[in-house]
Amino acid sequence: MAEDMIFFNKDTLIIKPPKKSGVLLRTIVLVVSMVCGLYICSICIKQSNTYMETKFLNIEVVERPCYDYGCDKSRVPYLHYPKPETFSRAECACNPVRFFAIISMQRSGSGWFETLLNSHVNVSSNGEIFSVKERRDNVSSIMDTLDRVYNLDWYSSASKNHCSAAVGFKWMLNQGLMEHHNEIVEYFNSRNVSVIFLFRRNLLRRMVSVLANSYDRYAKLLNGTHKSHVHSPAEAEMLSKYKPTINSASLMKNLKEMEVTAAKSLEHFRSTRHIILYYEDLMSNCTKLEEVQEFLKLPLMNLTSRQVKIHKGPMREHIKNWEDVNKTLQGTTYESFLHADY
Ligand SMILES: *[C@@H]1O[C@H](CO)[C@@H](O)[C@H](O)[C@H]1NC(C)=O
Ligand SMILES: *[C@@H]1O[C@H](CO)[C@@H](O)[C@H](O)[C@H]1NC(C)=O
Ligand SMILES: *[C@@H]1O[C@H](CO)[C@@H](O)[C@H](O)[C@H]1NC(C)=O
Ligand SMILES: *[C@@H]1O[C@H](CO)[C@@H](O)[C@H](O)[C@H]1NC(C)=O
Ligand SMILES: *[C@@H]1O[C@H](CO)[C@@H](O)[C@H](O)[C@H]1NC(C)=O
Ligand SMILES: *[C@@H]1O[C@H](CO)[C@@H](O)[C@H](O)[C@H]1NC(C)=O
Ligand SMILES: *[C@@H]1O[C@H](CO)[C@@H](O)[C@H](O)[C@H]1NC(C)=O
Repeated sequence: MAEDMIFFNKDTLIIKPPKKSGVLLRTIVLVVSMVCGLYICSICIKQSNTYMETKFLNIEVVERPCYDYGCDKSRVPYLHYPKPETFSRAECACNPVRFFAIISMQRSGSGWFETLLNSHVNVSSNGEIFSVKERRDNVSSIMDTLDRVYNLDWYSSASKNHCSAAVGFKWMLNQGLMEHHNEIVEYFNSRNVSVIFLFRRNLLRRMVSVLANSYDRYAKLLNGTHKSHVHSPAEAEMLSKYKPTINSASLMKNLKEMEVTAAKSLEHFRSTRHIILYYEDLMSNCTKLEEVQEFLKLPLMNLTSRQVKIHKGPMREHIKNWEDVNKTLQGTTYESFLHADY
């Protein structure tokens, strides 16, 4: 449109000169009109530049499909445009990618939470990558692994690569995270990695889940295969048939330890951009998942998981020495763990 206007201006200027004027006058008019044209043109370019800039800044708030303009995005430093070595991001090369890490403890619902996240078309959460010991042997192997994940060069069944808008993985507190917390916080802050803490309020339930899961590692209740997560109510029922015996002598001490570990991790990672989630809240409150998506600045979607909860119903049905446990926790700060029913 702007260009049309310029040509139109030129035409009228060229057509208008009085008929009697000589070659000199015509030349002067022509030169003036060219200068005017150039000036208008330069203003137009400036305007369209600022227009592009505002359009670009908007992506931060309103998620939009891929744009195909030159993507020197140095202007918005906290957004990432990874350039993977192993493939091309193709049409999504200009879509910003956010980095995240889910920090959790085993048997706190993080597996379920991760399947929910991965049901989002733009999320790649690559699982428990630091469960492999070599990757967390020392700080440099941790950093190398992180670099690969955040550069989208990590492959797992969850990778969506081209059009990922958020990429991350889950990290258990006992997988090098606490030992090397200083270096990791520094890395997270320098690369703007957002942290999602996922904890479980009811630590007694977590304990039951840990014991049952470690029992199943040997017993393999499901036709000879060990499963940490199940996808059918029948499988869940089978696994929950086993009732662990809880050592009531060390129960208070163990619960306290879990609590302290979680609190310490929060303290260590306090300076990162983070959000704290509880498994119980995620289960009872759908808007929590929206909060997570907003935290990662994702287009809102309905997230789904096929996983089925293993231990349902009142606690007393899942603990063999319930009387003992009940007696031990009565009147303590952990008494509420006995009653929660979900
Ligand atoms: C999300 O993924 C879809 C499909 O791959 C893609 O078209 C869209 O641009 C992506 N959105 C973002 C914000 O990356
Ligand atoms: C991280 O985000 C801050 C603003 O929140 C920004 O100033 C900084 O440049 C970003 N760093 C990187 C490496 O993206
Ligand atoms: C770190 O661990 C990796 C993997 O075990 C090993 O190859 C590397 O040599 C180690 N680096 C240092 C500096 O210890
Ligand atoms: C175990 O195997 C039996 C028959 O072999 C089958 O009917 C049953 O569904 C299997 N159970 C599970 C939990 O896979
Ligand atoms: C559900 O979560 C939202 C956002 O996290 C919060 O504002 C709301 O109060 C919660 N609702 C209930 C019933 O807890
Ligand atoms: C999610 O599902 C609910 C009901 O099933 C529907 O009303 C809502 O529009 C859906 N939201 C999105 C973002 O698809
Ligand atoms: C726990 O024990 C107390 C008495 O010691 C009893 O009143 C209560 O019903 C028991 N709680 C459960 C959930 O069994």
